[in-house]
Amino acid sequence: MFFRPLAADHKEVTVMKKAYEKYIPFVPLKMEHRSWPDKRITKAPIWCSVDLRDGNQALVDPMNLQEKLEYFHTLVDIGVKEIEIGFPSASETEYEICRELIEGGHIPDDVTIQVLVQARPHLIQKTFEAIRGAKHVILHFYNSTSTLQRKVVFHMDMDGITKIATDAAKLIYELSQPVIAEGMDLRYEYSPESFMGTEMDYAVEICQAVIEAIHATPEKKIILNLPTTVENCMPNYFADELEYFISKLPSRDSAIISLHPHNDRGCGVATAEMGLLAGAERIEATLFGNGERTGNVDMVTLAMNMYTQGVDPELDFSDINKIKAMYERCTKMKVGERQPYAGELVFTAFSGSHQDAINKGTAYMEESGSEYWEIPYLPIDPADVGRQYEPIIRINSQSGKGGAAYVMHHNFGFDLPKAMHPEFGHIVQVETDRVGTELKPERIYELFKENYIEATAPYQLVRHSFAEFTDEEGHSHVTFAGTIRCEGSTFQVNGSGNGPIDAFFNAIHGQKMDRFTFVDYKEHAISDGSDSMAVAYIQLRDQEGKDHFGVGISHNINLAPLKGILSAINRAVTGN
Ligand code: KIV
Ligand code: ZN
Repeated sequence: MFFRPLAADHKEVTVMKKAYEKYIPFVPLKMEHRSWPDKRITKAPIWCSVDLRDGNQALVDPMNLQEKLEYFHTLVDIGVKEIEIGFPSASETEYEICRELIEGGHIPDDVTIQVLVQARPHLIQKTFEAIRGAKHVILHFYNSTSTLQRKVVFHMDMDGITKIATDAAKLIYELSQPVIAEGMDLRYEYSPESFMGTEMDYAVEICQAVIEAIHATPEKKIILNLPTTVENCMPNYFADELEYFISKLPSRDSAIISLHPHNDRGCGVATAEMGLLAGAERIEATLFGNGERTGNVDMVTLAMNMYTQGVDPELDFSDINKIKAMYERCTKMKVGERQPYAGELVFTAFSGSHQDAINKGTAYMEESGSEYWEIPYLPIDPADVGRQYEPIIRINSQSGKGGAAYVMHHNFGFDLPKAMHPEFGHIVQVETDRVGTELKPERIYELFKENYIEATAPYQLVRHSFAEFTDEEGHSHVTFAGTIRCEGSTFQVNGSGNGPIDAFFNAIHGQKMDRFTFVDYKEHAISDGSDSMAVAYIQLRDQEGKDHFGVGISHNINLAPLKGILSAINRAVTGN
């Protein structure tokens, strides 16, 4: 609510203000020229994981020592070379974890640990104690620089805020000299916290002051980490700010530009990507985007986005399920079902047209031998992140005719003839409409079995024999004799032909079941565990021109088609 004076009688009336009007819109920089939109990401940034610090501090139950160690080792296995392990001056637990990592020999020689500290003298002192004995360390100090924080939290002007940062920088430089002399590879990182809400000229000023206070040089660069502590604008505006910042920084050569995007507007990944275009060289991120509020930028998505553009992200996510399981175990957080690259459902197509296109893409890949990934609706080969290719297709009422056949092929090895797809697709569709939910592959298999393989009534082959000989001209002659049961009574059939199917068809000639012509047949082997079986698909046509399909399975390759013919006849006479 706010008060609006009325000119006429000078009485004040209250006016309801629309709720959204209380927000102050972000004012983008006015840029004459920008070069970042024309750039491309062609190489991986330096990755720094902040899972064990920013991610950890955002957990309902922060990780214990064992969990942090397990997480740390996973990050190392993924290939992260810079890992912020915590805030050792903040609590005894954090201090102990830092000591265990160093003393317990958990840190490989090519991995640098990073420790965070506020720009406050006693905390800086304590941090130096915590890192004793480590080989490679990044000491990361920060203070808030934004207009809002200066106004409502620190009640300080720009000079006061700059002094906090430069005093810390001087102290860190001083304390680090003996440590470096003893052989530690110690580097510095400074974050103007809430960079995104800081006047850009002031951000340049304070970062330059820190560069000078800490004696950074092109040979011993400082990491300038520019956080969107709370994401407050569109990623393109952020990229403009970054390009501006970098172009104005006098000692640009003495700094590595790092980003630390949060995700309040859901644009953390885009901010990081556009930030890389605008000149960032390093990214602080977390697995699956865990972090304060809506999280830090997601390292998996960012890296895999590069991967799908043909850029090596230099991180290994080839067993994403294992990483996800570790993450969920240690953080007690859940990875969402639609989380890019990692979610349960991200390699699943529900829509029929998607399923058809995936089928065609898969066939195209096989036939063309294409060296590129060219499958519609699958931006990435699921196998590249260790995911199964099989469960891509699930069947619901929106699935097309090819979907059910696809499941039969990819999940169970039944390669149905194309002509049969619509009929089986219809059977599955009727079932999805009936149950109103998605059908699991096992149910689709059951429907196939019930409708085709178990179509053994009314006609059933009780016993049979084949005799085969090849004449002088190489033609084969098969005679068939069999007993067929129908509704309790049995009858004998005999016939001969140029093959088992022909012989059987001739044998049933003149019987009641003799109103079909043979249209097509397909047979292939199917493995059932250690057992190999033949499966035959039969297409018959009745006198009205309607096609009927049947399927027979047998260890005997001559018997499978006969069972298939009987299955087709049985389905036709029972109206299935
Ligand atoms: O989000 C942030 O600004 C931070 C800083 C401490 C780098 O986490
Ligand atoms: Zn953060």
